[in-house]
Amino acid sequence: MTTRRLVLTRSAALVGAASTGLLLPEIVRAQSSKIRVGLMLPYTGTFAPLGVAIENGFRMAIEQQGGKIGGREIEWFKVDDESDPSKGVENASKLVQRDKVDVMVGTVHSGVQMGIQKVARDSGVLSLIPNAGVHAATRGLCSPNVFRTSFSNSQPTLALGKPMMERGLKKTVWITWKYAAGDEAFEGFRDGYTKAGGTVIKELGLPFPNVEFQALLTEIAALKPDAVACFFAGGGAVKFIKDYAAAGLKDKIPLWGSGFLTEGVLEAVGPAGDGIMSTMHYSDSLDTPRNKEFRLAYAKMFRQQPDVYGVQGYDTGLLLVQGANAVKGDLSNKQALYKAMESTTIDSPRGKWKMSKSHNPIQDIYLRRVENRENKVIGIAAKQLEDSGAGCKMA
Ligand code: PHB
Repeated sequence: MTTRRLVLTRSAALVGAASTGLLLPEIVRAQSSKIRVGLMLPYTGTFAPLGVAIENGFRMAIEQQGGKIGGREIEWFKVDDESDPSKGVENASKLVQRDKVDVMVGTVHSGVQMGIQKVARDSGVLSLIPNAGVHAATRGLCSPNVFRTSFSNSQPTLALGKPMMERGLKKTVWITWKYAAGDEAFEGFRDGYTKAGGTVIKELGLPFPNVEFQALLTEIAALKPDAVACFFAGGGAVKFIKDYAAAGLKDKIPLWGSGFLTEGVLEAVGPAGDGIMSTMHYSDSLDTPRNKEFRLAYAKMFRQQPDVYGVQGYDTGLLLVQGANAVKGDLSNKQALYKAMESTTIDSPRGKWKMSKSHNPIQDIYLRRVENRENKVIGIAAKQLEDSGAGCKMA
């Protein structure tokens, strides 16, 4: 009885307050409160430049909207995840429980992403993946509140085999860091390459983020394959490209890779990078007004050339802005928010793309060649490629 009377009394008071306009400040405060954005990215270690590029791109997209998301200002929270999978759950929990973020943006490393995925699924907080390609995030462990704006790990490498075989490269050695990203990139490579008729004669690997390549390069020289294909990125990619050239392999055995190998590293590797062939969902030299305008704005804002990571960060910002605008900044209207994000078209510097049913981009994969410190497009290696999304059942 007491409870009921209290409720009645309160609602009567509310009606009274509303009619006199006393409630207004409350409502205004609720609608104009800031959106809490949590960035969980690597700011130290071999992937640090990737984290910075993603944050740059993300901020630029929002800056271009007057610094607001769905009409609301932003309060920023940041965690350096160090690309350390053992701290993934703890770091994501800090953002969700301590900082009470409305949205998590992260991360780069597939192992760390598994921690974020757990926290996202348990808490229901919106989670935007601006890089990490781990299959589970948009396959078996997919979730309505998780959206990836980058790629799945096997997406870029699926397209490598055909152009390699067209160039008569029938026997290949694969080399990578042994963790989810390298293993799943290999899955894509093996499937595409063997289907095109190629043979993987040896799989080589080393633990992430190890860069002691010497013994493995000696083994490659002895195996004399037609080509080498690989997955490396960030600081490790710089070292691999330089060591490959220094070992005298550059002009003997063509080097191919998932395009991350040559992203954000071309200034650092110089001529050692020339001639590397790769497949990727972006290329610096895409000759479209959208890409040119993006590259100019990014270079102006950050005094640095953008790479694929900057593009992915930028697209993450576009997705969030478009979703939030559709619900007028009310991110708690989840059904409408997710629906808007599922159906929107992202007008990206990489080309326009949409989400697959399991929330991963359906996108063109370009064939590229490094020339004069630039990733030049040679053609389209796969048109509108969609990840299988195998095992994804959205609730
Ligand atoms: C990953 O761990 O998923 C990953 C990291 C760096 C890349 C691509 C994928 O460049």
